[in-house]
Amino acid sequence: MPRLDPHSYADSDQPQTKSIELSLEVDFVSRVLEGEVALRFHQPGTGPIDLDTRGLRIDSVRSASGATLPFALSPPEPILGSRLRIDLPPATSGARIRYATSPEASALQWLAPAQTADGAQPFLYSQCQPIHARSLLPLQDTPRIRVTVKSARFTVPVRLRTLMAAAAKGREPAGEGRATDVFEMPQPIPPYLLAFAVGDLVPRQLSPRSAVWSERAVADAAAEEFAGVERMIGAAERLFGPYEWDRFDILVMPPSFPYGGMENPRLTFVTPSIIAGDKSLVNVLAHELAHAWTGNLVTNASANDFWLNEGFTVYAERRILEALEGREMAELHAAVGAHDLAVALERFEDQPQLTRLRNDLAGVDPDQAYSTVPYEKGFLLLRRLEELAGREAWDGFLRWYLEKFRFRSIVTQDFLEALEARLPGLAARAGALRFIDEPGVPEDAPRPQSARLRELQELASRQKLPEQRLNPTELLVYLKSLPAPERDTVRALDGLFGLSERRSLELRHSFVLLQLRAGMSEGIEGARRIARETGRMKYLRPIFSELARTGRETAQRIYRESRHAYHPIARAVIEGLVDDRLT
Ligand code: BES
Ligand code: ZN
Repeated sequence: MPRLDPHSYADSDQPQTKSIELSLEVDFVSRVLEGEVALRFHQPGTGPIDLDTRGLRIDSVRSASGATLPFALSPPEPILGSRLRIDLPPATSGARIRYATSPEASALQWLAPAQTADGAQPFLYSQCQPIHARSLLPLQDTPRIRVTVKSARFTVPVRLRTLMAAAAKGREPAGEGRATDVFEMPQPIPPYLLAFAVGDLVPRQLSPRSAVWSERAVADAAAEEFAGVERMIGAAERLFGPYEWDRFDILVMPPSFPYGGMENPRLTFVTPSIIAGDKSLVNVLAHELAHAWTGNLVTNASANDFWLNEGFTVYAERRILEALEGREMAELHAAVGAHDLAVALERFEDQPQLTRLRNDLAGVDPDQAYSTVPYEKGFLLLRRLEELAGREAWDGFLRWYLEKFRFRSIVTQDFLEALEARLPGLAARAGALRFIDEPGVPEDAPRPQSARLRELQELASRQKLPEQRLNPTELLVYLKSLPAPERDTVRALDGLFGLSERRSLELRHSFVLLQLRAGMSEGIEGARRIARETGRMKYLRPIFSELARTGRETAQRIYRESRHAYHPIARAVIEGLVDDRLT
């Protein structure tokens, strides 16, 4: 039974799924999806096929011709879930499974009207990466097995609408105040990119191939913030080749969305916290757009090679930013990344193996291993390779690599072999294997460099206040470079830059961290506000670790006030930090 992926029961000797057809009733009262999925295999097969499931109720399994098939659902494993084994009679071309999800499905967050921006209608969304698709439907939940979606049908209350990361095929009446939204996904995708949302959503057109969807309350601000998206797509296409997914739409999620963004194909999900009012956080959009090439076209084969998705994407994101905003700005973003990498390396001091780029995550929950290391350490390796190869040769390699592996799922070794074939000796000169297989960051890793960056770091290291105006990214670099400042400095900074009232949580949370470290009570109030405003883990994690360091009780109190709004993944992370045994 050769398993393909440490986080899936999929077996390479068994038939592999080629396409799926999905039909689901969305019930906001019982918080359950109920319906049917039909899996079609590449080749007719026989014998057992093992699917991944988590918390699913399986009602029946039939073959494509309608014959009932025997199946067995194993007891759940904590990380993998339950194996669903189906016995296929000779020459079976597919399986049709009737099932229902659990109200606790790990891929879903069901929000009450009060938890949305408009406050009037409920909201539902999915987040499948890394291994939550199995709580939504039974399937081979490994990025090694790409699938197309022949059709996906969601039946929802007529006042709501479904958006799927797929091509919309229209809406059909379903009776009793309900309607069915129909989609199809012709490009083969890894299961973690299956995604949909249901809510009272409205579009604003941004360009012929791009619209932003959101609740009404944020629609205008969102359209303004993302107005430059077409220029971004253009810049990315010049760097990486044609955009292959037809549309690039954006969905602004409710505040509880635990990530900054998620690169769902054709429909990127973003946190509302990137709407800063000054376009200073659109690098998140550049990042999710870049995944259309690095991640969605060329995909990591399992969580062990996650850096192939995220390291490449951070690199691509900064190339897009450089093209749009210039080298200085891109370097400032790289400096912020280098700072966050240092913080993450500290967090993994006791588990240095998790700071390698190539990992063995058998027995490890990928949500627990998640950190910025594959992002920023991966970026540093690619930057090093670029420096040594020279930009022209490196860009040639990148395009060739993206073309060679398009719509495929690969491991680090595939990347290394391609690199050796096209730029022989480069990996050795860069010491690539030290980045890939050793913990920490090599001494000779590249450092971001620019005149502006030097000035800001110099000011910060002497605890001197900036005399000129700083743009939001400059200000962020400055704040992150300040070594534990005195209270007076912190207050003066607030006076100069209005940091405690900034809309940008990127800036405000960095400032609150300084207040907390300086032991200022205003910091606790600021932390509480952030905890209530967002469910984004990038902000909650540092805020709650700092709170927990200075006063565990306060941290627990603030967590209790806000936890109802958080996604279960965020809850698990914060509970680990504030060590709170409440459920
Ligand atoms: N694909 C990730 C989000 C993700 C990773 C979700 C792993 C679940 C498991 C997304 O592209 C991402 O990296 N988002 C970042 C954006 C940032 C690096 C600009 C985030 O959420 O902060
Ligand atoms: Zn990413």
